[in-house]
Amino acid sequence: MEERYDFLVIGSGAAGITFALEAANHGKVCIISKTNLEECNTKYAQGGIAAVTYSPDDFEKHVKDTLICGDGLCNEEIVRLAISEAPAAIQRLIDLGTNFDKDQNGKYDLAREGGHSENRILHHKDVTGAEIERALIARVRKNPNITILENHFAIDIITQHHLGMLVKRYYNNIECYGAYVLDTATGKVKTILAKATLMATGGTGNVYHTTTNPVVATGDGVAMVSRAKGIIEDMEFVQFHPTALYSPSERPEFLITEALRGFGAILKDQNGNEFMQKYDPRGSLAPRDIVARAIDSEMKIAGIDYVYLDARHISYEQLIIHFPNIYKKCMSIGIDMTKDYIPVAPAAHFSCGGIKVDKNGLSWIKNLYAAGEVACTGLHGANRLASNSLMEAVVFSHRAAIHATENCLSNSIPENIPAWNDEGTTSPEEMVLITQSMRELQQIMTNYVAIVRSDLRLQRAEKRVNLIMEETQALYKKLKVSRILCELRNLTEVSYLIIKSASQRKTSVGLHYNVDYPKKKSLS
Ligand code: FAD
Ligand code: SIN
Repeated sequence: MEERYDFLVIGSGAAGITFALEAANHGKVCIISKTNLEECNTKYAQGGIAAVTYSPDDFEKHVKDTLICGDGLCNEEIVRLAISEAPAAIQRLIDLGTNFDKDQNGKYDLAREGGHSENRILHHKDVTGAEIERALIARVRKNPNITILENHFAIDIITQHHLGMLVKRYYNNIECYGAYVLDTATGKVKTILAKATLMATGGTGNVYHTTTNPVVATGDGVAMVSRAKGIIEDMEFVQFHPTALYSPSERPEFLITEALRGFGAILKDQNGNEFMQKYDPRGSLAPRDIVARAIDSEMKIAGIDYVYLDARHISYEQLIIHFPNIYKKCMSIGIDMTKDYIPVAPAAHFSCGGIKVDKNGLSWIKNLYAAGEVACTGLHGANRLASNSLMEAVVFSHRAAIHATENCLSNSIPENIPAWNDEGTTSPEEMVLITQSMRELQQIMTNYVAIVRSDLRLQRAEKRVNLIMEETQALYKKLKVSRILCELRNLTEVSYLIIKSASQRKTSVGLHYNVDYPKKKSLS
């Protein structure tokens, strides 16, 4: 089964849809999503999207905050470009129908989050991502130039490797022709060919046992591109959000937005004492890496699984106006935020690293673009500033669409691309071989490669992950392809990349904290 388009978009979050809508003005687009269009990290974004909107804020302040947070490793040219193009990207979202909250005077209500020196977060109550996704999906579903394939899972991108040629990493002559895609409803694998492909598969949170990411975030794009010999970088910089709701029976963890701390909520220990000032003068609103490490340290010292967030001094009226979703969620598990502390703990949240791309979202593989969380533009450096990721997704996916439409429409695709061949494979007899490996992997990464690392922990993790990788490869050769098997294979590849990058970085910087190396003085 072969299908041909001008543009293939893998992923239906903010990055994928932004690209698809622009590309559809110039050619035929196919957008695939592994479950339904709606299910993605974007849908769960709470706090909002960062951009300079009104004075006294200005680009220089946003640039400075981003650079400080990135701990010296941001690409300043990319930071300046993203921040200066963010207001136009926000305007495009508004033009497409996204509603951001306004105050009584009709001005945008700008929230504050950790590491920001000004109020600059545009938001829609505490469900900004769902609002953006709603508006974008409404447009995409109506667009006659866009074919939507839900429940379609990209297995691997297609390159000269599939024509029997040798491809090598760091040789920039690799070309992408599309992807092999599993229709999860029928079990059939399609060959979807395109003149340009956008990888927009989002995050990697499910590498860890606790994460704010939905189950679809399994690092598929990073793994696919790594296997295709593209360049992946900065994978050691995994951001743990400090305040996920502690509710051990639930996965993923429900996020308690940083904007609540921006509104005055305070972190407290189990005795009800504030503790953040011990770690940073910015207290509960210090950048995320500092707050997450501080909570981790408090939990380890006291031998407890969570600390508290105290929002009791914020009025019911304000909570209901600004944080209705969080209020409702807390009430559903018996926590009344106006009277009770909220138990919180850090959870894996965002991957700063990913597929290395240039300022137009172009990867090291020709005709392959990447945007959103799967990409590494250099904007975040060693740590992402809150609410800069939705901004990054919409700025760079738009740039990628412009570049692809100007440069790829005359590409030709070889005629002799082979169809998927699953001869000799069988259906799995024991799913436990896959599910148990998945659990083991998440435990290894959580115990040895999370907020605080050491050389010994990384070495131990590497040995164990190598074994899971060997076993998974053996299963992959033997079994008919399935979503869960591919996800395990991808999570294993991503774990390996995180461990390898973490082991190579012989210093502690930003989100990568290794007790065996002294913390480099940060720019803050
Ligand atoms: P996603 O929105 O994750 O979309 C990825 C898409 O790819 C999905 O449709 C998925 O199904 C699809 N996909 C994945 N693999 C495959 C495959 N193999 N085949 C086919 N399809 C595939 N950022 C902010 O800036 N502000 C916030 O307030 C904020 N809050 C957040 C709150 C939560 C709980 C979470 C989890 C994240 C938050 N973030 C926030 C981060 C931000 O939401 C994400 O970084 C951003 O939405 C990523 O967008 P994306 O388009 O790159 O990926
Ligand atoms: C949050 O609302 O705290 C998440 C913001 C982000 O991840 O940028």
